[in-house]
Amino acid sequence: MKVVVARTIPAAGLAKLEQRFDVETGGLPLDRQWLLEHAPGASAIVADPTVVVDEALLERAGQSLRVVSNFAVGVDNIDTEAVRARGLRATNTPDVLTNATAELAVGLMLATGRRIVETDRVLRDGEWSGWEPEQFLGRELARATVGLVGFGRIGQRVAELLRGFAPRVVFATRRPIEEPAARHGAERLELGTLLACSDYVSLHVALTAETKHMIDAAALAQMKDGAVLVNTCRGAVVDTAALVEALASGRLAGAGLDVYEDEPNVPPELVALPGTVLVPHIGSATRTTRDAMARLCADNVIAVLEGHEPPTPVV
Ligand code: DGY
Repeated sequence: MKVVVARTIPAAGLAKLEQRFDVETGGLPLDRQWLLEHAPGASAIVADPTVVVDEALLERAGQSLRVVSNFAVGVDNIDTEAVRARGLRATNTPDVLTNATAELAVGLMLATGRRIVETDRVLRDGEWSGWEPEQFLGRELARATVGLVGFGRIGQRVAELLRGFAPRVVFATRRPIEEPAARHGAERLELGTLLACSDYVSLHVALTAETKHMIDAAALAQMKDGAVLVNTCRGAVVDTAALVEALASGRLAGAGLDVYEDEPNVPPELVALPGTVLVPHIGSATRTTRDAMARLCADNVIAVLEGHEPPTPVV
């Protein structure tokens, strides 16, 4: 059976596939034309957040296709309705990247709140003239209110990691989730109330039609003066133009961002703002995590092609 890997995945997963199937890899950078040319006859397509899996690609793959395995937890790059309509399976890589992504979210809170990147630049530029009593003041996580938008695996892990810092943790979800809330000592609030009382707002939702631009100008206006926004989920959850305005006006103190609306393009206005900490979509980028994602991604393909239920199905 033929497995088409749109780009590539770490050897930990690729080798598992190569032991069992004829694997064709597109390599880096992504070449949509290559993918369309190699899709016909594929039993599985391995995608990642940069690979659009749409009706055209599924059609091109044809009758042989049984599964689209995403090397990511987010599946906003996949037309899951089209996958469902064709009676195919789609899978993702949850759990194995929860801790890495949550650690990065906490890192961005600290880096932004304590101005770590901004002051590193000051020092490197030779602009530090010595210690001053009221220089470079930031904010501590202790006694701050951290608002988690979305309280799934990653949001809950953030709450767990934050415990040692002792902030007040609140969260917003569409539906009540009592047991995890109690376990993490977190309080569920309506989104508007959360935005109004949080010193840090950290986003942990999947990108869907419902969450696209969930943090728009109106939501940003509800945030506390001097608050910090952290985004490690998907860029399009935030209206970037509105965020730039909120930061440029000084209403928000800063933003720690791992994801962007039009990756890899980052608006120059965001880059120019000293209060932003901008990293290039590295939430899951540790050796351990990317290897675990690769193994799970491969296991999903193997399960479906060998006639079993995949470990982490989406469709
Ligand atoms: C995901 O898994 O969805 C991340 O964005 C990539 O690690």
